[in-house]
Amino acid sequence: MPQLDIKLLEENTRFWENRYRNNNIQWHIDDVNPMLFKHLKTLIPSVTGEVGEGSKADSNPKKIFIPLCGKTKDIPFLLSLGHEVFGVESFSAAIEELNYDHNLELKFDQQKSLYESEDGRLKIYCGDFFTCPIEDFEPFDCIWDRGSFIAVDYHFREAYVEMMKRAVALGTGHKFRYLLQTVRYDKTVYPGPPRCVDPDDIEKFLEPWASVQQLDRYPVSDDSPMRMTAGDVGDLDEIALFLTNKN
Ligand SMILES: C[S@@+](CC[C@H](N)C(=O)[O-])C[C@H]1O[C@@H](n2cnc3c(N)ncnc32)[C@H](O)[C@@H]1O
Repeated sequence: MPQLDIKLLEENTRFWENRYRNNNIQWHIDDVNPMLFKHLKTLIPSVTGEVGEGSKADSNPKKIFIPLCGKTKDIPFLLSLGHEVFGVESFSAAIEELNYDHNLELKFDQQKSLYESEDGRLKIYCGDFFTCPIEDFEPFDCIWDRGSFIAVDYHFREAYVEMMKRAVALGTGHKFRYLLQTVRYDKTVYPGPPRCVDPDDIEKFLEPWASVQQLDRYPVSDDSPMRMTAGDVGDLDEIALFLTNKN
């Protein structure tokens, strides 16, 4: 695991806390994420029927990891399909709000810094992603990475990828499916977040350990929250990548 600069980690936590406190949370959408909807059957092939709010429960539940989960509605959606979800979020008030809004009845174990539902199908580690005891929860079958890899500072990318390799128990033969939201723009004009993932990043951080497929690429519209956050960066595309075990 690369050395982590504790001061930078603390700065990062403060940055996101301030965004919540100032209600500057444009990334949060009041719906299930459209990219997850669109590619759900790629991420979880055992899902059957129409994908939507009324989708039927999956008879083959998966262990799904949502890093940097915030208070995303994707969590109750995936639970409603019968899956197990593990999230990591540093800002406890976001988890509390998710809990309240969706009647999840999570109990908090202070010693483990873990929110857990009565049936154990939802667990959220409240703390820093980079110091999360991931071995207590892996291996995950599926990862839904939205506003997560692209949220972390460029400086932390190597450490991030090391955590993900641990999350999928790389090297043990465990099979994983990983849906990764990325964005592409000219990195020299905007520092992020969201942070750009260009072909060199894919080659450096992802391809050494995973087979990477581009599922989708489309321009981000002018009125989208992502465009408002990134400002005047010129061409801005959202790209869905799909990672699986390397052959
Ligand atoms: C851009 S938001 C995305 C949230 C969620 N994935 C979604 O789609 O709505 C990033 C989230 O990650 C959290 N976060 C940022 N850095 C973190 C870290 N190092 N450890 C744990 N959580 C972190 C922030 O508090 C915020 O809720």
